[in-house]
Amino acid sequence: MSTIAPDSITVSDRERSLRVFPAGSNGEFDLPADLTMVVRSGSGCRLRDTEGRDWLDMSMGWGSAMPGHAHPAIVEAVQRQLASGTNFAYTNEASLALAEQIVALSPACDRVRFCTSGSEAILYCLRLARAFTGRSGVLKFEGAYHGASDIGVLSLMPREQRPFPQPEPSCDGTTDRDVLVAPYNDLATTRRIVEQAADTLGAIIVEPFQRCLPPVPGFLSGLRTLCNEFRIPLIFDEVVTGFRFAYGGAQTYYGVTPDLVAYGKALGGGLPIGAYGGRADIMTLVEESRLGTGKPYVWTASTLGCNAVSCAAACAALHLYRTPGAYECLHALGRRLRDGLTTAVKEAGVPAQVLGDGPLGMVAFSSSPVIDYRSTAAADRKLGRRVMLGLFSRGVFLNPMGTKLYLSLAHDFSAVDTLVHHFRASLREALAVRE
Ligand SMILES: Cc1ncc(COP(=O)(O)O)c(C=O)c1O
Repeated sequence: MSTIAPDSITVSDRERSLRVFPAGSNGEFDLPADLTMVVRSGSGCRLRDTEGRDWLDMSMGWGSAMPGHAHPAIVEAVQRQLASGTNFAYTNEASLALAEQIVALSPACDRVRFCTSGSEAILYCLRLARAFTGRSGVLKFEGAYHGASDIGVLSLMPREQRPFPQPEPSCDGTTDRDVLVAPYNDLATTRRIVEQAADTLGAIIVEPFQRCLPPVPGFLSGLRTLCNEFRIPLIFDEVVTGFRFAYGGAQTYYGVTPDLVAYGKALGGGLPIGAYGGRADIMTLVEESRLGTGKPYVWTASTLGCNAVSCAAACAALHLYRTPGAYECLHALGRRLRDGLTTAVKEAGVPAQVLGDGPLGMVAFSSSPVIDYRSTAAADRKLGRRVMLGLFSRGVFLNPMGTKLYLSLAHDFSAVDTLVHHFRASLREALAVRE
Protein backbone atom coordinates (compact mmCIF):
# COMPACT_ATOMS: atom_id res chain seq x y z
CA MET A 1 0.00 0.00 0.00
CA SER A 2 1.23 3.52 -0.73
CA THR A 3 2.60 5.37 2.26
CA ILE A 4 1.72 8.70 0.71
CA ALA A 5 -1.86 9.86 0.85
CA PRO A 6 -3.16 10.54 -2.66
CA ASP A 7 -4.07 14.09 -1.73
CA SER A 8 -0.72 14.88 -0.12
CA ILE A 9 0.38 18.36 -1.13
CA THR A 10 3.97 17.14 -1.40
CA VAL A 11 3.21 14.76 -4.25
CA SER A 12 2.42 16.10 -7.70
CA ASP A 13 -0.39 14.63 -9.77
CA ARG A 14 2.26 13.48 -12.23
CA GLU A 15 4.00 11.47 -9.49
CA ARG A 16 0.69 10.11 -8.28
CA SER A 17 -0.18 8.89 -11.75
CA LEU A 18 3.23 7.27 -12.19
CA ARG A 19 2.71 5.40 -8.92
CA VAL A 20 -0.56 3.80 -9.90
CA PHE A 21 -0.53 3.56 -13.71
CA PRO A 22 2.25 1.80 -15.61
CA ALA A 23 4.03 4.68 -17.43
CA GLY A 24 1.52 7.06 -15.83
CA SER A 25 -1.14 6.45 -18.46
CA ASN A 26 -3.97 4.20 -19.48
CA GLY A 27 -2.04 2.98 -22.49
CA GLU A 28 0.17 3.74 -25.45
CA PHE A 29 0.98 7.35 -24.69
CA ASP A 30 4.58 6.46 -24.03
CA LEU A 31 5.64 9.86 -22.68
CA PRO A 32 8.86 10.57 -20.80
CA ALA A 33 8.10 10.92 -17.08
CA ASP A 34 8.80 14.68 -17.08
CA LEU A 35 6.09 15.28 -19.69
CA THR A 36 3.44 13.13 -18.04
CA MET A 37 0.43 15.25 -17.09
CA VAL A 38 -3.02 14.73 -15.68
CA VAL A 39 -6.09 16.10 -17.47
CA ARG A 40 -8.64 17.94 -15.41
CA SER A 41 -11.11 19.00 -18.07
CA GLY A 42 -11.76 19.38 -21.75
CA SER A 43 -13.74 21.96 -23.68
CA GLY A 44 -13.95 22.15 -27.47
CA CYS A 45 -10.47 21.31 -28.77
CA ARG A 46 -8.67 22.31 -25.56
CA LEU A 47 -7.68 20.45 -22.44
CA ARG A 48 -6.72 21.83 -19.08
CA ASP A 49 -4.39 19.88 -16.83
CA THR A 50 -4.30 19.77 -13.05
CA GLU A 51 -1.47 22.31 -13.00
CA GLY A 52 -3.69 24.83 -14.77
CA ARG A 53 -1.95 24.57 -18.16
CA ASP A 54 -4.00 24.66 -21.37
CA TRP A 55 -3.37 22.24 -24.20
CA LEU A 56 -4.42 22.15 -27.83
CA ASP A 57 -5.84 18.66 -28.23
CA MET A 58 -4.79 16.86 -31.39
CA SER A 59 -5.85 13.46 -30.11
CA MET A 60 -9.49 14.19 -29.17
CA GLY A 61 -9.80 11.01 -27.15
CA TRP A 62 -8.12 9.11 -29.97
CA GLY A 63 -10.72 10.43 -32.35
CA SER A 64 -13.73 9.55 -30.24
CA ALA A 65 -14.68 13.09 -29.22
CA MET A 66 -15.22 14.31 -32.79
CA PRO A 67 -17.95 16.82 -31.80
CA GLY A 68 -15.44 18.42 -29.39
CA HIS A 69 -15.06 17.99 -25.64
CA ALA A 70 -18.13 18.79 -23.55
CA HIS A 71 -20.20 19.68 -26.60
CA PRO A 72 -23.49 21.09 -25.25
CA ALA A 73 -25.60 18.74 -27.39
CA ILE A 74 -23.77 15.67 -26.08
CA VAL A 75 -23.86 16.93 -22.50
CA GLU A 76 -27.57 17.59 -22.77
CA ALA A 77 -28.31 14.17 -24.28
CA VAL A 78 -26.30 12.40 -21.60
CA GLN A 79 -27.86 14.36 -18.75
CA ARG A 80 -31.36 13.76 -20.06
CA GLN A 81 -30.75 10.03 -20.34
CA LEU A 82 -28.97 9.77 -16.97
CA ALA A 83 -32.13 10.89 -15.25
CA SER A 84 -34.08 8.07 -16.88
CA GLY A 85 -31.70 5.21 -16.18
CA THR A 86 -28.41 4.18 -17.67
CA ASN A 87 -28.36 0.50 -18.58
CA PHE A 88 -31.13 -2.01 -19.14
CA ALA A 89 -29.09 -4.48 -21.19
CA TYR A 90 -32.06 -4.63 -23.53
CA THR A 91 -33.45 -2.70 -26.46
CA ASN A 92 -34.35 0.78 -25.29
CA GLU A 93 -35.58 3.94 -26.96
CA ALA A 94 -32.09 5.35 -27.47
CA SER A 95 -30.55 2.11 -28.80
CA LEU A 96 -33.48 1.58 -31.16
CA ALA A 97 -33.24 5.12 -32.54
CA LEU A 98 -29.49 4.69 -32.98
CA ALA A 99 -29.78 1.29 -34.67
CA GLU A 100 -32.31 2.70 -37.15
CA GLN A 101 -29.94 5.52 -38.04
CA ILE A 102 -26.98 3.17 -38.51
CA VAL A 103 -28.94 0.79 -40.71
CA ALA A 104 -30.06 3.79 -42.79
CA LEU A 105 -26.58 5.30 -43.19
CA SER A 106 -24.39 2.19 -43.54
CA PRO A 107 -24.64 0.41 -46.91
CA ALA A 108 -23.38 -2.85 -45.35
CA CYS A 109 -25.73 -2.93 -42.39
CA ASP A 110 -29.01 -4.78 -42.70
CA ARG A 111 -28.80 -5.50 -38.98
CA VAL A 112 -26.68 -4.08 -36.18
CA ARG A 113 -25.82 -4.75 -32.55
CA PHE A 114 -24.00 -2.65 -29.98
CA CYS A 115 -21.08 -3.33 -27.70
CA THR A 116 -18.72 -1.11 -25.75
CA SER A 117 -15.62 -0.68 -27.89
CA GLY A 118 -14.16 -1.01 -31.34
CA SER A 119 -12.11 -4.02 -30.23
CA GLU A 120 -15.23 -5.86 -29.17
CA ALA A 121 -17.07 -4.97 -32.39
CA ILE A 122 -14.23 -6.44 -34.45
CA LEU A 123 -14.09 -9.57 -32.35
CA TYR A 124 -17.76 -10.21 -33.17
CA CYS A 125 -17.29 -9.47 -36.87
CA LEU A 126 -14.45 -11.98 -37.07
CA ARG A 127 -16.39 -14.61 -35.15
CA LEU A 128 -19.44 -14.10 -37.36
CA ALA A 129 -17.43 -14.42 -40.58
CA ARG A 130 -15.67 -17.55 -39.36
CA ALA A 131 -18.90 -19.16 -38.21
CA PHE A 132 -20.70 -18.24 -41.42
CA THR A 133 -18.03 -19.81 -43.63
CA GLY A 134 -16.98 -22.59 -41.27
CA ARG A 135 -13.38 -21.56 -41.95
CA SER A 136 -11.06 -20.26 -39.25
CA GLY A 137 -8.40 -18.44 -41.27
CA VAL A 138 -8.24 -14.66 -41.27
CA LEU A 139 -6.27 -12.44 -43.61
CA LYS A 140 -5.25 -9.05 -42.28
CA PHE A 141 -2.90 -6.37 -43.61
CA GLU A 142 0.51 -5.65 -42.18
CA GLY A 143 0.52 -2.60 -39.93
CA ALA A 144 -3.25 -2.62 -39.39
CA TYR A 145 -4.65 -2.27 -35.90
CA HIS A 146 -7.91 -4.04 -35.28
CA GLY A 147 -8.23 -3.55 -31.55
CA ALA A 148 -6.69 -5.19 -28.54
CA SER A 149 -7.27 -8.85 -29.47
CA ASP A 150 -4.49 -11.17 -30.66
CA ILE A 151 -5.48 -10.73 -34.31
CA GLY A 152 -5.86 -7.01 -33.78
CA VAL A 153 -2.22 -6.52 -32.79
CA LEU A 154 -0.58 -9.23 -34.88
CA SER A 155 1.92 -7.75 -37.37
CA LEU A 156 0.97 -4.29 -36.16
CA MET A 157 4.57 -3.15 -35.72
CA PRO A 158 6.66 -6.05 -37.03
CA ARG A 159 10.42 -5.57 -36.67
CA GLU A 160 11.63 -8.65 -38.54
CA GLN A 161 9.27 -8.04 -41.47
CA ARG A 162 8.94 -11.71 -42.32
CA PRO A 163 8.02 -12.87 -45.83
CA PHE A 164 4.28 -12.56 -46.53
CA PRO A 165 1.94 -14.11 -45.45
CA GLN A 166 3.76 -15.02 -42.24
CA PRO A 167 2.44 -13.06 -39.25
CA GLU A 168 4.77 -11.56 -36.67
CA PRO A 169 3.74 -10.89 -33.09
CA SER A 170 3.99 -7.23 -32.11
CA CYS A 171 3.42 -8.06 -28.49
CA ASP A 172 4.14 -11.03 -26.25
CA GLY A 173 1.36 -13.12 -24.80
CA THR A 174 -0.46 -13.45 -28.13
CA THR A 175 -0.92 -16.35 -30.50
CA ASP A 176 -0.87 -16.13 -34.28
CA ARG A 177 -2.99 -19.16 -35.13
CA ASP A 178 -4.87 -19.05 -38.42
CA VAL A 179 -3.75 -15.55 -39.41
CA LEU A 180 -2.19 -14.62 -42.74
CA VAL A 181 -0.74 -11.21 -43.42
CA ALA A 182 -0.65 -9.31 -46.70
CA PRO A 183 0.83 -5.93 -47.66
CA TYR A 184 -1.71 -3.10 -47.61
CA ASN A 185 -2.38 -1.54 -51.01
CA ASP A 186 -0.81 -4.50 -52.86
CA LEU A 187 -3.67 -6.30 -54.54
CA ALA A 188 -1.49 -8.64 -56.60
CA THR A 189 0.30 -10.10 -53.55
CA THR A 190 -2.98 -10.28 -51.65
CA ARG A 191 -4.55 -12.19 -54.52
CA ARG A 192 -1.66 -14.68 -54.60
CA ILE A 193 -2.02 -15.31 -50.86
CA VAL A 194 -5.79 -15.70 -51.09
CA GLU A 195 -5.59 -18.05 -54.07
CA GLN A 196 -3.31 -20.37 -52.11
CA ALA A 197 -5.32 -20.27 -48.89
CA ALA A 198 -8.90 -19.71 -50.06
CA ASP A 199 -10.14 -23.02 -48.62
CA THR A 200 -9.09 -21.99 -45.13
CA LEU A 201 -9.99 -18.29 -45.12
CA GLY A 202 -13.09 -17.26 -43.22
CA ALA A 203 -12.52 -13.49 -43.36
CA ILE A 204 -10.53 -10.69 -44.88
CA ILE A 205 -10.37 -7.69 -42.58
CA VAL A 206 -9.11 -4.28 -43.61
CA GLU A 207 -8.89 -0.76 -42.28
CA PRO A 208 -10.19 0.88 -45.47
CA PHE A 209 -7.87 3.79 -44.68
CA GLN A 210 -5.05 2.05 -42.85
CA ARG A 211 -3.64 4.08 -39.95
CA CYS A 212 -3.12 7.30 -41.98
CA LEU A 213 -2.68 5.71 -45.41
CA PRO A 214 -5.34 6.09 -48.09
CA PRO A 215 -6.16 3.08 -50.25
CA VAL A 216 -4.65 3.29 -53.73
CA PRO A 217 -7.32 3.44 -56.46
CA GLY A 218 -8.75 -0.01 -57.07
CA PHE A 219 -7.44 -1.60 -53.88
CA LEU A 220 -10.70 -1.76 -51.94
CA SER A 221 -12.80 -2.60 -54.97
CA GLY A 222 -10.21 -5.27 -55.85
CA LEU A 223 -10.60 -6.77 -52.37
CA ARG A 224 -14.35 -6.78 -52.87
CA THR A 225 -13.96 -8.68 -56.14
CA LEU A 226 -11.52 -11.13 -54.56
CA CYS A 227 -13.88 -11.79 -51.66
CA ASN A 228 -16.80 -12.36 -54.05
CA GLU A 229 -14.71 -14.72 -56.16
CA PHE A 230 -13.67 -16.90 -53.21
CA ARG A 231 -16.82 -16.36 -51.12
CA ILE A 232 -14.92 -14.85 -48.22
CA PRO A 233 -16.70 -12.23 -46.10
CA LEU A 234 -15.03 -8.82 -46.30
CA ILE A 235 -14.89 -6.93 -43.02
CA PHE A 236 -14.33 -3.17 -42.91
CA ASP A 237 -12.86 -1.94 -39.66
CA GLU A 238 -14.50 1.48 -39.67
CA VAL A 239 -13.58 2.26 -36.08
CA VAL A 240 -11.55 5.24 -37.32
CA THR A 241 -13.18 5.99 -40.68
CA GLY A 242 -16.79 5.62 -39.53
CA PHE A 243 -18.54 9.03 -39.59
CA ARG A 244 -15.19 10.75 -40.09
CA PHE A 245 -14.66 11.18 -43.82
CA ALA A 246 -18.34 11.05 -44.66
CA TYR A 247 -21.56 10.35 -42.77
CA GLY A 248 -21.67 6.91 -44.40
CA GLY A 249 -18.02 6.30 -43.54
CA ALA A 250 -15.42 4.71 -45.80
CA GLN A 251 -18.14 2.66 -47.46
CA THR A 252 -19.72 5.69 -49.07
CA TYR A 253 -16.47 7.66 -49.30
CA TYR A 254 -14.75 4.95 -51.35
CA GLY A 255 -17.89 3.36 -52.80
CA VAL A 256 -17.16 -0.19 -51.64
CA THR A 257 -19.56 -2.19 -49.47
CA PRO A 258 -18.21 -4.89 -47.15
CA ASP A 259 -20.17 -7.83 -45.74
CA LEU A 260 -19.58 -6.84 -42.14
CA VAL A 261 -18.53 -3.58 -40.53
CA ALA A 262 -17.27 -2.52 -37.10
CA TYR A 263 -17.72 0.98 -35.66
CA GLY A 264 -16.54 2.74 -32.52
CA LYS A 265 -14.77 6.00 -31.67
CA ALA A 266 -16.65 8.95 -33.29
CA LEU A 267 -19.96 7.10 -33.07
CA GLY A 268 -20.18 7.71 -29.32
CA GLY A 269 -19.18 11.38 -29.52
CA GLY A 270 -16.77 10.69 -26.63
CA LEU A 271 -18.78 8.02 -24.80
CA PRO A 272 -17.94 4.32 -24.91
CA ILE A 273 -19.59 2.43 -27.72
CA GLY A 274 -18.96 -0.12 -30.44
CA ALA A 275 -21.30 -1.35 -33.15
CA TYR A 276 -21.10 -4.26 -35.52
CA GLY A 277 -23.40 -5.04 -38.37
CA GLY A 278 -23.71 -6.40 -41.83
CA ARG A 279 -25.62 -8.65 -44.17
CA ALA A 280 -28.82 -10.05 -42.69
CA ASP A 281 -27.87 -13.64 -43.57
CA ILE A 282 -24.65 -13.31 -41.57
CA MET A 283 -26.05 -11.27 -38.67
CA THR A 284 -28.81 -13.82 -38.18
CA LEU A 285 -26.20 -16.18 -36.75
CA VAL A 286 -26.40 -14.33 -33.44
CA GLU A 287 -30.02 -15.35 -32.88
CA GLU A 288 -30.26 -17.64 -29.88
CA SER A 289 -33.05 -19.69 -31.43
CA ARG A 290 -30.30 -21.30 -33.53
CA LEU A 291 -28.51 -22.66 -30.47
CA GLY A 292 -28.59 -26.44 -30.48
CA THR A 293 -30.25 -26.69 -33.90
CA GLY A 294 -27.08 -27.70 -35.71
CA LYS A 295 -27.07 -24.41 -37.61
CA PRO A 296 -24.11 -22.07 -37.09
CA TYR A 297 -24.60 -19.90 -34.03
CA VAL A 298 -22.47 -17.05 -32.70
CA TRP A 299 -22.44 -15.95 -29.10
CA THR A 300 -22.52 -12.21 -28.60
CA ALA A 301 -23.28 -10.47 -25.35
CA SER A 302 -22.21 -7.16 -23.98
CA THR A 303 -23.50 -6.16 -20.56
CA LEU A 304 -23.20 -2.45 -21.24
CA GLY A 305 -23.37 -2.74 -25.02
CA CYS A 306 -26.63 -0.93 -25.67
CA ASN A 307 -26.48 1.24 -22.57
CA ALA A 308 -28.89 4.08 -23.03
CA VAL A 309 -26.42 6.81 -22.12
CA SER A 310 -23.88 5.94 -24.81
CA CYS A 311 -26.69 5.40 -27.31
CA ALA A 312 -28.24 8.78 -26.48
CA ALA A 313 -24.84 10.45 -26.86
CA ALA A 314 -24.35 8.65 -30.17
CA CYS A 315 -27.75 9.84 -31.45
CA ALA A 316 -26.74 13.39 -30.54
CA ALA A 317 -23.36 12.93 -32.23
CA LEU A 318 -24.96 11.62 -35.42
CA HIS A 319 -27.30 14.61 -35.41
CA LEU A 320 -24.25 16.91 -35.30
CA TYR A 321 -22.50 14.97 -38.07
CA ARG A 322 -25.63 15.32 -40.24
CA THR A 323 -25.63 19.10 -39.80
CA PRO A 324 -25.13 20.69 -43.23
CA GLY A 325 -21.53 21.72 -43.67
CA ALA A 326 -20.07 19.36 -41.04
CA TYR A 327 -18.01 17.29 -43.48
CA GLU A 328 -17.03 20.33 -45.56
CA CYS A 329 -15.68 21.78 -42.32
CA LEU A 330 -13.78 18.61 -41.32
CA HIS A 331 -12.23 18.30 -44.78
CA ALA A 332 -11.31 22.00 -44.96
CA LEU A 333 -9.58 21.75 -41.57
CA GLY A 334 -7.70 18.65 -42.68
CA ARG A 335 -6.56 20.32 -45.91
CA ARG A 336 -5.32 23.34 -44.01
CA LEU A 337 -3.44 21.07 -41.60
CA ARG A 338 -1.80 19.02 -44.33
CA ASP A 339 -1.01 22.11 -46.44
CA GLY A 340 0.56 23.80 -43.41
CA LEU A 341 2.64 20.74 -42.55
CA THR A 342 3.72 20.38 -46.18
CA THR A 343 4.90 23.99 -46.29
CA ALA A 344 6.72 23.56 -42.97
CA VAL A 345 8.68 20.48 -44.05
CA LYS A 346 9.53 22.10 -47.40
CA GLU A 347 10.81 25.23 -45.67
CA ALA A 348 12.93 23.08 -43.38
CA GLY A 349 14.31 21.23 -46.40
CA VAL A 350 13.63 17.86 -44.80
CA PRO A 351 12.36 14.93 -46.87
CA ALA A 352 8.88 14.10 -45.64
CA GLN A 353 5.53 12.77 -46.73
CA VAL A 354 2.43 14.42 -45.34
CA LEU A 355 -0.26 11.79 -45.09
CA GLY A 356 -3.95 11.77 -44.37
CA ASP A 357 -7.40 12.61 -45.60
CA GLY A 358 -10.48 14.25 -44.10
CA PRO A 359 -9.75 15.50 -40.59
CA LEU A 360 -6.61 13.35 -40.19
CA GLY A 361 -2.96 14.15 -40.74
CA MET A 362 0.45 12.64 -40.12
CA VAL A 363 4.04 13.32 -41.16
CA ALA A 364 6.42 10.51 -42.14
CA PHE A 365 9.99 11.72 -42.52
CA SER A 366 10.85 9.81 -45.65
CA SER A 367 11.96 10.76 -49.15
CA SER A 368 10.02 7.85 -50.69
CA PRO A 369 6.27 7.51 -51.11
CA VAL A 370 4.57 5.95 -48.10
CA ILE A 371 1.81 3.52 -49.03
CA ASP A 372 2.05 0.59 -46.62
CA TYR A 373 3.59 -0.54 -43.34
CA ARG A 374 7.08 -1.17 -44.67
CA SER A 375 7.39 2.19 -46.37
CA THR A 376 6.03 3.84 -43.20
CA ALA A 377 8.53 1.95 -41.06
CA ALA A 378 11.40 3.06 -43.32
CA ALA A 379 10.79 6.70 -42.32
CA ASP A 380 13.03 8.45 -39.78
CA ARG A 381 11.02 7.59 -36.71
CA LYS A 382 13.55 9.06 -34.27
CA LEU A 383 13.08 12.45 -35.89
CA GLY A 384 9.32 11.92 -35.88
CA ARG A 385 9.31 11.20 -32.17
CA ARG A 386 11.50 14.22 -31.37
CA VAL A 387 9.10 16.45 -33.28
CA MET A 388 6.09 14.92 -31.51
CA LEU A 389 7.69 15.39 -28.08
CA GLY A 390 8.61 18.95 -29.10
CA LEU A 391 4.95 19.58 -29.89
CA PHE A 392 3.93 18.07 -26.57
CA SER A 393 6.34 20.29 -24.67
CA ARG A 394 4.80 23.30 -26.49
CA GLY A 395 1.32 22.49 -25.20
CA VAL A 396 0.00 20.28 -27.98
CA PHE A 397 -1.62 17.16 -26.60
CA LEU A 398 -1.06 14.15 -28.85
CA ASN A 399 0.13 10.60 -28.88
CA PRO A 400 3.89 10.86 -29.35
CA MET A 401 4.12 7.39 -30.89
CA GLY A 402 3.90 9.23 -34.21
CA THR A 403 0.37 8.21 -34.96
CA LYS A 404 -2.13 10.43 -36.68
CA LEU A 405 -3.36 13.84 -35.60
CA TYR A 406 -7.12 14.04 -35.14
CA LEU A 407 -9.11 17.17 -35.88
CA SER A 408 -12.69 17.65 -34.71
CA LEU A 409 -15.72 19.84 -35.29
CA ALA A 410 -14.41 22.01 -32.44
CA HIS A 411 -11.15 22.89 -34.20
CA ASP A 412 -10.93 25.95 -36.40
CA PHE A 413 -8.35 27.41 -38.77
CA SER A 414 -6.75 29.34 -35.94
CA ALA A 415 -6.21 26.11 -33.91
CA VAL A 416 -4.75 24.43 -36.99
CA ASP A 417 -2.43 27.38 -37.62
CA THR A 418 -1.27 27.23 -34.01
CA LEU A 419 -0.46 23.56 -34.45
CA VAL A 420 1.50 24.26 -37.64
CA HIS A 421 3.37 27.10 -35.92
CA HIS A 422 4.45 24.75 -33.11
CA PHE A 423 5.27 22.03 -35.62
CA ARG A 424 7.68 24.41 -37.39
CA ALA A 425 9.44 25.25 -34.13
CA SER A 426 9.58 21.60 -33.00
CA LEU A 427 10.97 20.50 -36.35
CA ARG A 428 13.66 23.21 -36.26
CA GLU A 429 14.62 22.13 -32.76
CA ALA A 430 14.62 18.41 -33.62
CA LEU A 431 16.76 18.97 -36.72
CA ALA A 432 19.25 21.04 -34.73
CA VAL A 433 19.70 18.13 -32.29
CA ARG A 434 20.25 15.77 -35.21
CA GLU A 435 22.93 17.91 -36.82
C1 LIG B 1 -8.73 0.96 -36.77
C2 LIG B 1 -9.02 0.63 -35.33
N1 LIG B 1 -9.72 -0.47 -35.04
C3 LIG B 1 -10.03 -0.79 -33.78
C4 LIG B 1 -9.63 -0.02 -32.72
C5 LIG B 1 -9.97 -0.41 -31.31
O1 LIG B 1 -10.99 0.36 -30.80
P1 LIG B 1 -11.19 0.47 -29.21
O2 LIG B 1 -9.97 1.15 -28.67
O3 LIG B 1 -12.46 1.25 -29.06
O4 LIG B 1 -11.33 -0.91 -28.70
C6 LIG B 1 -8.89 1.14 -32.96
C7 LIG B 1 -8.45 1.98 -31.85
O5 LIG B 1 -7.63 2.87 -31.97
C8 LIG B 1 -8.57 1.47 -34.30
O6 LIG B 1 -7.81 2.55 -34.59
